[in-house]
Amino acid sequence: MEVVIRPTEADAVRLTAAILADDLRKNPEMVFGLATGATMEAVYAELTRLHREEGLDFSTAKTFNLDEYIGLPADDKNSYRYYMNKHLFNNINIKMANTHLPNGMTDDIKGEGARYEAAIKAAGGVDLQLLGIGQDGHIGFNEPLSSLASRTRDKSLTPATFRQNSIYFDPPESMPLRAFTMGVGTILDARKLVMLVTGERKADILAKAVEGPVSSMVTASAIQFHNNVTVIVDEAAASKLQGKEYYYWNFNHAPEWEKYR
Ligand code: PGA
Repeated sequence: MEVVIRPTEADAVRLTAAILADDLRKNPEMVFGLATGATMEAVYAELTRLHREEGLDFSTAKTFNLDEYIGLPADDKNSYRYYMNKHLFNNINIKMANTHLPNGMTDDIKGEGARYEAAIKAAGGVDLQLLGIGQDGHIGFNEPLSSLASRTRDKSLTPATFRQNSIYFDPPESMPLRAFTMGVGTILDARKLVMLVTGERKADILAKAVEGPVSSMVTASAIQFHNNVTVIVDEAAASKLQGKEYYYWNFNHAPEWEKYR
C-alpha cells in the first residue's frame, strides 16, 4: 500500500482524478469501479473538466458503482444512479449502457447481487476501483462485521451511516435503511484500488483502516490484503497517521510519483 499526503483537499482530488485519467489514456477500455459520497463530487468535476478541456475520452470505458439504496428509483435525487448521472455520466461521453449500478428497484433482492457480480465478470473485472471511507470504516456499504470475503448483496445500514447520509434526505427519516453493495471480496478482486479520504473528521477512521489491524469491524482495513493500493489523503485526514514522515518521503522521492509532483 502507498499513502500519499497532499497539502489540501483540492490537491488530493486533482491527484486522484489524474491517476484515473492516466489509466484511461493508457487503456481506453478501462473498467472503473466508482464510488459516491460528498468526497467524490470534486473528483467527478475534475474528470468532467479533463473531458471538456483536454478531450479525455470515455467512449469505450465501462463503470460499475459500489452500491445503491434499495427502494430508490433512478430519478430519485438521492439515488446513486441520479448522483452519478448528475456529477459524471451526463457530463462526459460515456455510453449510458456501459454504466452500471445495482438495481435498487429490483423485485429480486436476493438475486440482484449475483446478477451484478455476473455483469462485472462479463466486463472482464474491474481495473481500477475508486473508494471512499465511511465514518464507521465502511467501503461501499460494507458495514462493520461484513465478511471480508463478502460478495455483492443487500445489507442493513448502521446508525452511523444513517447519521452521515440522512442529512441529504428530506425528511431525514426517508433514507432507506438497506442498500446493495459490492462485497469486500468483490472490491478486493479489482486489479487496483485508489482510496481518497479528506477532512479532519475522517482522520481517526483512516488511521485505523490503514495502520490498524485488519478487522471486519473496519472493513476498509481489508485493503491491506490487496497488492496494488494507493490511498490519497489531505493533511487534515492524515493528522492521526503514524507513518507520515515515510509517506511524504515516498511521494517526494519515489520515481513513480515524479510526474505528479
Ligand atoms: P463521504 O462518504 O464522501 O460523503 O464522506 C464516504 C463513504 O461513506 O464511503
